[in-house]
Amino acid sequence: MYELGIDAIWFNPWYPSPMADGGYDVTDYRDIDPLFGTLEEAEELIAEANRLGIRVIIDIVPNHCSDKHAWFRAALAAKPGSTERERFWFRPGRGANGEDPPNEWRSFFGGSAWTRTTNPDGSPGDWYLHLFASGQPDLNWSNLEVRREHEDVLRFWFDRGVAGARIDSATLLFKDAALPDFDPEHALVPHPYIDRDELHELYREWRAIADSYPGSRILVGEIWLPDRDRFARYLRPDELHTAFDFEFLACPWEAARLRAVIDATLAAHDPVGASPTWVLSNHDVTRDVTRYGRAETGLGSEEETCSIRTVDLMRGTRRARAAALLTQALPGAVCIYQGEELGLSEVEDLPENVLQDPVFFRSGGTNPGRDGCRVPLPWEGDAPPFGFSDGNASAPPWLPQPASWRNFTAAFQVSDPRSMLTLYRKALHIRRQERAFGDGPIRWLSAPANVLAFSRGDKLICVVNLSEESVELPPHHGVLLASELLDGDLLPADAAVWLRT
Ligand code: NOJ
Repeated sequence: MYELGIDAIWFNPWYPSPMADGGYDVTDYRDIDPLFGTLEEAEELIAEANRLGIRVIIDIVPNHCSDKHAWFRAALAAKPGSTERERFWFRPGRGANGEDPPNEWRSFFGGSAWTRTTNPDGSPGDWYLHLFASGQPDLNWSNLEVRREHEDVLRFWFDRGVAGARIDSATLLFKDAALPDFDPEHALVPHPYIDRDELHELYREWRAIADSYPGSRILVGEIWLPDRDRFARYLRPDELHTAFDFEFLACPWEAARLRAVIDATLAAHDPVGASPTWVLSNHDVTRDVTRYGRAETGLGSEEETCSIRTVDLMRGTRRARAAALLTQALPGAVCIYQGEELGLSEVEDLPENVLQDPVFFRSGGTNPGRDGCRVPLPWEGDAPPFGFSDGNASAPPWLPQPASWRNFTAAFQVSDPRSMLTLYRKALHIRRQERAFGDGPIRWLSAPANVLAFSRGDKLICVVNLSEESVELPPHHGVLLASELLDGDLLPADAAVWLRT
């Protein structure tokens, strides 16, 4: 009934986890957290999805595990210098009594990247490195056991029929063993823990594993690197297949800047023969409807991203609809974050006592964190939990859904021709039907100020009006899909259209 028309589903980490960071703190890479089900159920799901032609992509989290993982527990129980501790980054502290962290590195979530351990006799011990929350100790990728373990985990899931892996924090993993301090304003080259060259040999090994399986198994990198050439190195033919294009996601709603980002992305992918993967949102950023409804439409610093600002949701929704048509007209893959297809906005008024994201806690509450984009989906019905769970009051969804979502459920939208869900379903359907939307090039067409127009093949044109005024459409034979009602041959502001020429 709610068929969307997708080819694959990427699951965020579904492994057993204390959920110190939404499951990105894994205690067992070969099992499923009881919150979500069992390993047998996951196997059934993968098999059923495969039967339906939907591929399953899992999330691999190699940079760190949970502090409750058997390896980390063993490391805590073992002595400094032991093989158990070699799998992580343990170091004595600085200062007369080791009371200062081994270096000044900061966690991406705020605060120091080091936490001090306690010895079995209760005295303070060595420190361990965690680039994220303290419940996520970083693994030592120079350690062969760490490498072999993750190769085995990849095989474990490929053996179960998964079609690919999204690699979390794919540019971190390796560290400079000297753990040098650096000025974040003038980062060291090479950086002591971002984008180190050793990663490429690792991903070549992983690619060989993926290629050793029948059918196509793909590796998708989570790669936030502003340097396009460094980014593209990960997508060489014997490394990862693709990576999310965060420059596109972060780009403000301005025609010239979007065009520049699209051109730069295509130019970076071209020499390595890889396909881009376009994204408008994900579980780490403010939802696109909200972002595009703000005065500052780009993704700023995390602090800015998360602070509550004035938002015009009507405008944000129009732009998000137009952005969906723009994104889906581009060559490459498109990844839709759950709820994007329902036009959900960021839930910005979650009470503090329900927040879960370590970003909120580690920033001392100055950054609301990412819970606002992670509120469970509304499927049907007039009241929470909107069919997401069975409505059992003792087990409500882990974040409360706004009552206003009764007008955003999949059931509410599915037969409404003007809904976001209908737009996504139609767009995905047409994108699949029209060969011109495949991997071929795009050709920019001349267009008025703050309007994007490009053709795909010789029969399709996409026009996106980011200006404040209606603009005249180029000559065409028919309209395949429009994000807003057209006024004759005029495309309204903040709208997009796919035309047949
Ligand atoms: C990136 C993931 O997308 C994010 O949700 C997570 O917090 C960090 N990596 C750490 O695993």
